[in-house]
Amino acid sequence: MDLSQREAAAQTRLEPVWFDYLQGGAGEERTVRDNRDAWGRWSLRPHYLRDVRGTSAATTLLGTPSPAPMVVAPTAMHRLFHPDGELATAAGAAAAGMIYTVSMAAMTSLEDIAATAPGAPRWMQVYMFADRGITKACCERAAAAGYAALVLTIDSPVTARNLRNERNGFNVPAGLTLPNLAPPDAHDLDIWGIVGAYDPAVTPDDIAIVSAWGGGLPVVVKGLVRGDDARRAVDAGAAAVAVSNHGGRQLDTCIATARALPEVVDAVAGDAEVYVDGGVRAGIDVVKALALGARAVLVGRPVIWGLATDGAAGVESVLRELTDDTARALALCGVTSPHDVTRDLLT
Ligand SMILES: Cc1cc2nc3c(=O)[nH]c(=O)nc-3n(C[C@H](O)[C@H](O)[C@H](O)COP(=O)(O)O)c2cc1C
Repeated sequence: MDLSQREAAAQTRLEPVWFDYLQGGAGEERTVRDNRDAWGRWSLRPHYLRDVRGTSAATTLLGTPSPAPMVVAPTAMHRLFHPDGELATAAGAAAAGMIYTVSMAAMTSLEDIAATAPGAPRWMQVYMFADRGITKACCERAAAAGYAALVLTIDSPVTARNLRNERNGFNVPAGLTLPNLAPPDAHDLDIWGIVGAYDPAVTPDDIAIVSAWGGGLPVVVKGLVRGDDARRAVDAGAAAVAVSNHGGRQLDTCIATARALPEVVDAVAGDAEVYVDGGVRAGIDVVKALALGARAVLVGRPVIWGLATDGAAGVESVLRELTDDTARALALCGVTSPHDVTRDLLT
């Protein structure tokens, strides 16, 4: 099944309310569309007359080997999409050898996710909650459970409006919870009361605070689209930044990430790894991201198409297909490794 078939199959498999939650974005969803279109606006200038035997998409991300310059993006509430939820995502990502970024809003505890695929590479995404103890507890638990990095999402100072969810009366079924939002000792906490109660006052100083909560884990700052913000994040200690507009789910008409990426790469000037997400659906998109200076891409919705259609096997299949497609795109561009991709491949 190719990716667009997966997307169509996920639509037939899922209740419309969950499929809309998955696919939708803020406002008129212009940024959702722009993210996808922006990759297509770049054209490739491939090299030929080169030996591309042995081409591999493999790389390292914050020192962790990966079969492709690709990470599973943090996405919330996987039990809406498959009964095994995050456990299936973790198993599929582990089988593909890919780093899985667990969302703080997962419906499975971060400890159970770690236990289901021991030894697999994992990062933990956190939001800064107004009640900072919630974020602190999550960082501490992630460090104790062996997560290798913390991904601090900064593009959500307030919750965005999603019109599809409003029209559908989106509501999570009874019995499903978000166990990574609760400090371990707060048994009667009203989880749904605190969802979206983000701290609207996150500053660069919080990067070091989050890292300290995680016992010194590296911090990836996710959700910026400007060079000056990226520079402030890196100067404040970020090990990596992820150019992201949350897949178009926060601020409608926010600049497409493929357009924002070059400015961020210039501002970071090699002092941290730069990732990008939003609308990456094929190996050629990955090669374009690399050519614009990214170290890797994050993949959001396609992983859930895999999860919804086929559980762990679907997640593995999507990630393997994207890995193979990236190696194919590299070879077709006359390049044998992600590290050899240069800016002149694009026009
Ligand atoms: C259903 C869904 C839930 C998401 N939940 C989170 C989240 O909990 N934390 C976060 O940082 N980003 C979240 N995101 C954003 C993704 O991490 C990522 O930025 C985005 O999906 C990338 O775009 P793509 O889906 O086009 O690949 C979510 C995205 C989707 C589609």
